[in-house]
Amino acid sequence: MTDFMNEYCMHTATCGELRASDTGREVVLTGWAWHNRDHGGLIFCDLRDREGYTQVVVDPDCVSADDFAKAEHLGREYVLKVTGKVRERGADAVNPNMATGEIEVLASAVEVLNTSVTPPFSIEDGIETDETTRMKWRYLDIRRPEMLANLKLRHTVAQALRCALNKRGFLEIETPILANSTPEGARDYIVPSRPNPGKFYALPQSPQQFKQMLMCAGVERYYQIARCFRDEDLRADRQPEFTQVDVEMSFVQGEDVMVMMEDVMAETLAAAGVSHEFPLQRMPYAEAMERFGCDRPDTRFGMELVNLTEIVRGCGFGVFAKAVEAGGVVKAINCKGAGDWSRGDVEKLADIAAANGAKGMAWIAFTTDGNEKSPIIKFFEDDVYARLKEAMGVEAGDLLLFAADVPEVANAVLSALRLHMADRLNIPREGHNLLWVVNFPMFKYDEDEKKYAAEHHPFTHVLDEDMDKIESDPLACGSYSYDLVMDGFEVGGGTIRIHSAEEQRRVLRVCGLTDEQIDEKFGHLIHALELGAPPHGGIALGLDRLVMLLAGKDSIRDVIAFPKTSSASDPMTGAPSAVTGRQLKEVNLRTL
Ligand code: AMO
Ligand code: AMP
Repeated sequence: MTDFMNEYCMHTATCGELRASDTGREVVLTGWAWHNRDHGGLIFCDLRDREGYTQVVVDPDCVSADDFAKAEHLGREYVLKVTGKVRERGADAVNPNMATGEIEVLASAVEVLNTSVTPPFSIEDGIETDETTRMKWRYLDIRRPEMLANLKLRHTVAQALRCALNKRGFLEIETPILANSTPEGARDYIVPSRPNPGKFYALPQSPQQFKQMLMCAGVERYYQIARCFRDEDLRADRQPEFTQVDVEMSFVQGEDVMVMMEDVMAETLAAAGVSHEFPLQRMPYAEAMERFGCDRPDTRFGMELVNLTEIVRGCGFGVFAKAVEAGGVVKAINCKGAGDWSRGDVEKLADIAAANGAKGMAWIAFTTDGNEKSPIIKFFEDDVYARLKEAMGVEAGDLLLFAADVPEVANAVLSALRLHMADRLNIPREGHNLLWVVNFPMFKYDEDEKKYAAEHHPFTHVLDEDMDKIESDPLACGSYSYDLVMDGFEVGGGTIRIHSAEEQRRVLRVCGLTDEQIDEKFGHLIHALELGAPPHGGIALGLDRLVMLLAGKDSIRDVIAFPKTSSASDPMTGAPSAVTGRQLKEVNLRTL
């Protein structure tokens, strides 16, 4: 990269490349004046560009009086072109923390290409500037080495993915942004059509239907680094526009897609300097829920959920016994190292449980000095208590946290507590762990809408053995589906698709659509399936999440050049913004 970086431009070296072996070289550097200081008549300036920093020394004996005067008045972020000679630093001046710390460039000419007003924050790593300010001045934020490194990593990962897919015969094909709604579970961003008054495009939540059409078109292997748009509540790992590495293949079964993706991921991780064992574990959805309480388990640490339902069935503690009698479960986690927490600290955890739907949070603490503290021990029969302790593998210093509820709530509560306690107890979670979570249920019941909805999307093929239950028992139907999970995040999701028009109609009907609605919204898909659709399936990786994890960041905003705030706005450009009355009229809209 560095070689080409010095072609087609003003400089002959970047600020990151010079070493002791370059001593004596005449170079031209360009960059931003970062740290300027005057040491006894010599001016020192750390010049920064995208590749690093180089210390420039301006000695009045080596430059014109005019250039020295410029150097004396450098401001932060002035843009400079410096001509000079590389020289080794004296032993006591070597900076081992700087890649170019062995050398400095003794200037023979200094040109100020541009000045700068004082920047709103310091352009360096580790600043504590609030994120909205960083986003307002994003071009300054990106000048910081850690942000540039994130964008470089993103580039490396995207190129490695492209390269790995190209090698395997995938064609990169673009699909429309002005499209029709395709259901992925979020609200659509809609765009009015001027020539079609009252009609709207929907920005794609994913290219799902188009990629299926490409399979029907005989493309056989497709990919796209695709921008997707979802109007949903934002979180650290969710943006309203984000990027998928979207992949589809014909004549495949789920295992084929997973194995192909593992090969692609192995090459991509290697490019990012990460090694990982392959093949990856395939964990059924039901097992993930049972052991971790969620479908994207962080498998880098234990603290697994233990099912105590059978042990406490009919026991003397009414809360547990009643939950089991009502068809619920009693599960618990063992937080090793929290046994000496104060009652107050433990009770505060109930807020997390409550936020996830719990009606309470029973607990038992085993202090390191051999005592047992809990509001509930007294309710248990001795043998039940002994079996409970055995099942939980109790030792001194442990804290048990319980959830008694319907499985969905008990799992959600303990999954949230497990992650919270891992943070609080500083449980090491270094490195990366990838796995597949497979065989998701086909449908879920949407309590708000009072109807069934697809767990992934309604184009997912129902397990052959469950085909006869689609109408009679939707919740019992499994699907050919696989999510790629990394360090507790869903970094990819895919399924084998329905390629029979009849199955597609049945699934859409269960999701509450009438035949007329199916023809209106999905007529094109039904036709395509009737006209010789090959068996096909695919996956989409969330590029932002993958790069976030590889960069060791907590938010995808750190790996997106121009992200949006949590209220879906851009403080730099001011988007979204009002439009003129005339613009609204042109598209036949009026604001309320
Ligand atoms: P899914 O909805 O699971 O599947 O999306 C695929 C991957 O995209 C990422 N992702 C997001 N990343 C950032 N911000 C968001 N708002 C966001 N939403 C999703 C996740 C997720 O795993 N068409 C199917 C894929 C398929 O079946 O082939 C789809 O879109 O990492
Ligand atoms: P109560 O009988 O409601 O006073 O509850 C006794 C203990 O059980 C308290 O510590 C509650 O926090 C806890 N508890 C109540 N409901 C649940 C539940 N559904 N799951 C786990 N613990 C609970």
